Amino acid sequence: MRVLGIETSCDETGVAIYDTERGLAADVLHSQIAMHAEYGGVVPELASRDHTRRLLPLIQRVLDEAGLTRHQLDAIAYTAGPGLVGALMVGASTAHGLARALDIPVLGVHHMEGHLLAPMLEDAPPAFPFVALLVSGGHTQLVEVEGLGRYRLLGESVDDAAGEAFDKAAKMLGLDYPGGPAVARLAESGNPARLRFPRPMTDRPGLDFSFSGLKTHTLTAIRRLEAEGALDESARADVARAFEDAVVDTLAIKCRRALEATGLRRLVVAGGVSANRRLRERLEREAAKRGAEVHYPRGRFCTDNGAMIAYVGAQRLLAGEHDAPGQMQAVPRWP
Ligand code: KG4
Ligand code: ZN
Repeated sequence: MRVLGIETSCDETGVAIYDTERGLAADVLHSQIAMHAEYGGVVPELASRDHTRRLLPLIQRVLDEAGLTRHQLDAIAYTAGPGLVGALMVGASTAHGLARALDIPVLGVHHMEGHLLAPMLEDAPPAFPFVALLVSGGHTQLVEVEGLGRYRLLGESVDDAAGEAFDKAAKMLGLDYPGGPAVARLAESGNPARLRFPRPMTDRPGLDFSFSGLKTHTLTAIRRLEAEGALDESARADVARAFEDAVVDTLAIKCRRALEATGLRRLVVAGGVSANRRLRERLEREAAKRGAEVHYPRGRFCTDNGAMIAYVGAQRLLAGEHDAPGQMQAVPRWP
């Protein structure tokens, strides 16, 4: 079965074709980051309009790259949520219109299930069961994954997501959106011994996270350095490093606890923040110590993309799921 996957939940238009026998056939992406950068964050109305402009040409391009015509598609999967409602509607209505015209099944999928199973697109995919750490701009969750659709939430952030915390810290440091990569770059030259930020919620048992206090701590540190007349480039790098170390350490401590609590030895890390190099190195070291393995999607599939949506859609379509005709779904908040 050849499945066209469409992702338009936020600021990337992603389209891919996944073949259940041959694997990923083609994958294309248009990122709106440059367009939103001048506003310091995603402007929802601009996002929807840009998806409208880009989506059909990208669908044609993915077909061309796969050497297929639209008549060789067997089904369509799209991100039904969570996300920006206008952006979601572009993908949902395009998917339903195209499916109706081609007379093939169509299915809305959960964006986070896409991130969760993105490592399945790699050459050596993780076997079930595993623990997954989902760290994106909107979510920070630990999930026990037994199989497709068999997920148990072990813990999640009670306030900001890890990516959101990176983005806010970046703003405080005067860095561009998206903040995660910018903070990580600045932290490279930071001195890890100069400042130490707290590791929130690690002093008590449990697998929940909280990152909003860290945000306040970062602001306080910046203000203090400023008052001392010491907020130069190297001090800003030290703040970035202290912030990144605190987030990485907190995530690693909770991952270790989740592996201990479930008795599992496989960890999957996905979502935008899983691109963070220091996080990867830290989790590799932790895993090696306890004979566990860590799996990541390739860099391109850590952030939003159509391939993960095509993959999840294909698995669910194979299991017999599909939307009722004309019942397009756009669900901005979807637990
Ligand atoms: O999964 P994603 O592309 O979109 C959402 O579904 O949210 O994640 C985007 C988030 C942003 O907050 C971004 O700052 C963060 O992932 N991010 C990073 C890195 N690359 C992206 N955070 C830390 N280090 C990175 N290298
Ligand atoms: Zn995402």
